[in-house]
Amino acid sequence: MCGIVGITSKKGAGVLKDLISSLTKLEYRGYDSAGIAILTDKGIEVIKGVGTISEVVSRALDEIKDGSTGIGHTRWATHGEVSEQNAHPLLSCDRRVAVVHNGTLDDFEKLRDRLMAKGHRFSSDTDSEVIAHLIEENITLHGDIVEAFVKTVMSLKGSYAVAAIIQGYNALLVARNKSPLVVGLGNGENYCASDVAALLHKTNRFIFLEDGDIALVTPDTVKVCHLTSTGEALSVERGIELIEWSPELLSRGSYEHFMLKEIHEQPNIIRKIAENLNYYRKFAEALFGYLRDGSLSIVAAGTSYHAGLIGKYLFSKMLSVRSEVIIASEFQEWSHHLRKGDIVLAISQSGETADVLEAVRIARSRGTRVLSLVNVPGSTLTRLSDEVAYIQAGPEVGVAATKTFTAQIAVLYLISSIMKDLNEGKIRENTERSLLSVSKILNGQLDEFKRRSKDISERIKHKKNAFFLGRGINFPTALEGALKLKEISYIHAEGYPAGEYKHGPLALIEEGVPAIVLVPYDEDLRRKIIYNLMEVKSRGALTITVQPDNVDVPTDFAITTDSSVGELLSPLIYAVPLQLIAYYTAVSLNRNPDKPRNLAKSVTVE
Ligand code: G6P
Repeated sequence: MCGIVGITSKKGAGVLKDLISSLTKLEYRGYDSAGIAILTDKGIEVIKGVGTISEVVSRALDEIKDGSTGIGHTRWATHGEVSEQNAHPLLSCDRRVAVVHNGTLDDFEKLRDRLMAKGHRFSSDTDSEVIAHLIEENITLHGDIVEAFVKTVMSLKGSYAVAAIIQGYNALLVARNKSPLVVGLGNGENYCASDVAALLHKTNRFIFLEDGDIALVTPDTVKVCHLTSTGEALSVERGIELIEWSPELLSRGSYEHFMLKEIHEQPNIIRKIAENLNYYRKFAEALFGYLRDGSLSIVAAGTSYHAGLIGKYLFSKMLSVRSEVIIASEFQEWSHHLRKGDIVLAISQSGETADVLEAVRIARSRGTRVLSLVNVPGSTLTRLSDEVAYIQAGPEVGVAATKTFTAQIAVLYLISSIMKDLNEGKIRENTERSLLSVSKILNGQLDEFKRRSKDISERIKHKKNAFFLGRGINFPTALEGALKLKEISYIHAEGYPAGEYKHGPLALIEEGVPAIVLVPYDEDLRRKIIYNLMEVKSRGALTITVQPDNVDVPTDFAITTDSSVGELLSPLIYAVPLQLIAYYTAVSLNRNPDKPRNLAKSVTVE
């Protein structure tokens, strides 16, 4: 879960500043340490250390010489503690090779022992360092630099996105397997990065490498070869794709944090999705057709998993279609029943979550069809899928997903509505209208939600535990509310189906424990949840409700919303105050909501 970047330019000098700004845009992938290596006329210069990118590289402009080619890395530790030695780039013994790596190498101990027996000295505890020493070793053996790199990659097992620079050679040598890596195309310079976001300020033309690809990237050319299962490296052509995200989307603007900016973007994103109903028709038709042949399994992780649960509810309620939702990391063990013709619907913001990709590979090996809902264009998941629909939320930088959650729900609602029309052989006019009205309501209520959420955050910020209770379609919203609060404020929070709560967690309720209850629009469900609410209230809980504005609920604090929204679309509204409560609690506790400790935006390790 690291970010890597590389630039090679024929200008002769001057890549350092661009490297730093690209690396800064990757910071959401990891932020415990960072580093840069530059190819200069003096050799390879390296600056690295523990801390944020700005803390580490602010020294770079003064301390190291600029050059024509460089690589950078932002780390989220997997092998080896967080320390300056373990920060990337990592060097060979002769300091003529520097590498950055994202992923985890299998059996690297064997490679390291073999290299050490040949006299190589290691300066870090990382698996990644073997790559630098292997390249050095292979240059000695084969002479040719490209051949040495290819031979090195051939001996790696596991997941890797690697970029290497070699003294005297103005180019980037890159390779990928099960970790994301794109090549960007500029004028008189070319780039590589873990994702397009790092390079949008330089280019919108990209080559998306496939697993098993190795590329030689010079300032003017990109040559790609592919490692076959028989160990050959065959030359291949990879197409150039244009990405339409503008670099401005990656700026925080006047907002204090990306998370707040992204919360604010939600009404517009929901409107855009509603207006693009026809774009989702092809996807919905494909899914509708496939459902005749097989069963539907939804697979996702984190927040996308919660959106998947809402999808399951919509498919069941609107279409009477049975589906299951499998947590991506558990997929292998819970999917033995899948057969040829079954359907896997993968939901992922990044399209790079390793567990989701692995689940999809397993599913494909069993002959299932794979459809996916993705946010990041060109991501690996899109290339493993038979059909893709983009949720069109624009780049999300805050580690805690917000706008992509509501965008996923809006798209799932649209798809379910289109499939319902197909099922009933008629086209209802109100699908687009109801989403547009949600967007309008949200827009109108955001300021009030912010005000109320801020007040609530002051009441809960010193609590140790909090509980989020929901029923029906808002049970997953409760799970998401708890996830938001715990991940950015570090207050322990649990989401629960309100009716199940009495079978255990009720024992944890004592004076002042916050219980955040999502009050259903549906009258029968509401009656039941009010009973659940009374249960916790009478045991001393501090009750906070999110509810329609036309109902009377006995609660300490209420956040109300327009009663016209209706049950099926209520998660789109209810999610927002929960995001804001988490946001203001984190800010009030002086915790950076954009970079929660130990977490990363794109989890590219299993
Ligand atoms: C990480 C992120 C979450 C995200 C999850 C799944 O844990 O911090 O915000 O929900 O990964 O990511 P995906 O990109 O597959 O939706």
